[in-house]
Amino acid sequence: MKGYFNLEENEKIKNFLDKCKRHKVKTGFSIVGIILLIIIIIVGIKILVAQFYYSESGYVPVKTDEPYRMALSVSPFTDKSIKEGYTYEFNSTYTISTVEDLEKLYIERGATEMYVRIATKRHVTSEDITDGEVDTNANVHTFDQAIELCKTAAKLNITMNPEVMCAYTYMDMEKQQAPRFEEYPEIYKLQNGKDWTELSLDEINVVLKAYGKFLATEILKTGCTVKNWNLGNEANFGFAGVSLGLKTAVNKNLEGVSSFKRYILPVFNPGWLEENIWKYNAKEFAAVREGILEAYKDLSIDSTGVKFSTHIATVVMTPGACARYFNCMKKNGYPIDTAGISFYPSAPSLYVKAMILFKKTVMEINKKSNLPVFIGEFSYPSGEMSGDFAGWNKEVSGYPHSEEGQAAIYKDVVNWGKTHGVIGIRYWAADYENWGTMGLFKFENKHGKPKQALLDDEIHRQ
Ligand SMILES: *[C@@H]1O[C@H](CO)[C@@H](O)[C@H](O)[C@H]1NC(C)=O
Ligand SMILES: *[C@@H]1O[C@H](CO)[C@@H](O)[C@H](O)[C@H]1NC(C)=O
Repeated sequence: MKGYFNLEENEKIKNFLDKCKRHKVKTGFSIVGIILLIIIIIVGIKILVAQFYYSESGYVPVKTDEPYRMALSVSPFTDKSIKEGYTYEFNSTYTISTVEDLEKLYIERGATEMYVRIATKRHVTSEDITDGEVDTNANVHTFDQAIELCKTAAKLNITMNPEVMCAYTYMDMEKQQAPRFEEYPEIYKLQNGKDWTELSLDEINVVLKAYGKFLATEILKTGCTVKNWNLGNEANFGFAGVSLGLKTAVNKNLEGVSSFKRYILPVFNPGWLEENIWKYNAKEFAAVREGILEAYKDLSIDSTGVKFSTHIATVVMTPGACARYFNCMKKNGYPIDTAGISFYPSAPSLYVKAMILFKKTVMEINKKSNLPVFIGEFSYPSGEMSGDFAGWNKEVSGYPHSEEGQAAIYKDVVNWGKTHGVIGIRYWAADYENWGTMGLFKFENKHGKPKQALLDDEIHRQ
């Protein structure tokens, strides 16, 4: 995760507003201006009403027999932190200084699954640089690192929830990279010498299916169990190179779309996203899924009950647009079992009332898409946020930015979810110091002590 409204975006928004202002000076009150104003007022009223009006009348949660997934796990950054000398404790019994021992602690606290995020970059390189630019994701999600975490899961006998990004080092709602397969000769061969940007959707899907099969085979061969596969990371704006702002032969329109549109389209025109991105992504997800299921078959591992998902960011989406996203997946060939969402109540968003937006989003997905919801990313600050995440300081009423407030919101989101079609939650990056006050440890000289939200038995016991 990175700050959604970073400096660059702010600059873009400012330029946009400047342009609007200049336009007005030149033309006075043009017809276009008046129409635009009316649209803005109508949408503004809709957004205002939507976030203050809340009712559960007539709502029936999705039925599911899945046990609640308490997905607290070591994060993509844990191994790196530990190599840098970080240690942790839960009480003064002993000091934790390995990934395995930290995961063991989470299991003792009630975690039911472990998590790994996987990019297509295969091996760790000596510097955090990608294509000449500093890239903090360059060496945390590689295939090699993923396999190590799967071995740990196998050893600890905890199911693994892999997140298959199909991006070279990273993707989320803010930025997307296409995958690269040069480090996998057997898979790369299938591109027939073409660059990823030149491949048609059918050509892409041949490659993605082979990759899905290869990856699942290697993961399952470690001996770990996988019950849930999550494809993509905050895939609102694309997957595997068919993404807003990227060049692709699948849809020539995408390259020219400004990054600013990602904050506008989901609210004003989700139909455009359906037509230009989502329907293609559904086919890509389906190809990866097919490959993964072939791996189970070839390894003679029973895939009954194995579930597939993707997850999207909610700060830029209306509840209706979220439901449309998952319906679009189903309609276009991805038989999705679980609707994943990120929920960061303190992040900047169009909505003032984060909890109301969250509840409405879950209920809308339950109702319109008939899917249970999994909160793939959640966290809340226990104090002031600074640095990269200085913008994530929104306080939800009733939940101050304190250890108590953090524990209370976590508990309320879990408890409300259990009776409202939410089948699990992953507290994001609980042990990562660079995540500011969001984590579940407080640090001093690279040593983490648990905060109340981690100590609270009520949150973690089923
Ligand atoms: C301390 O924490 C460990 C887990 O790390 C647990 O097994 C042990 O029971 C705890 N001891 C006390 C006194 O709470
Ligand atoms: C692993 O966990 C499963 C339940 O999740 C259990 O049925 C099985 O016996 C465990 N295997 C070992 C070797 O502990």
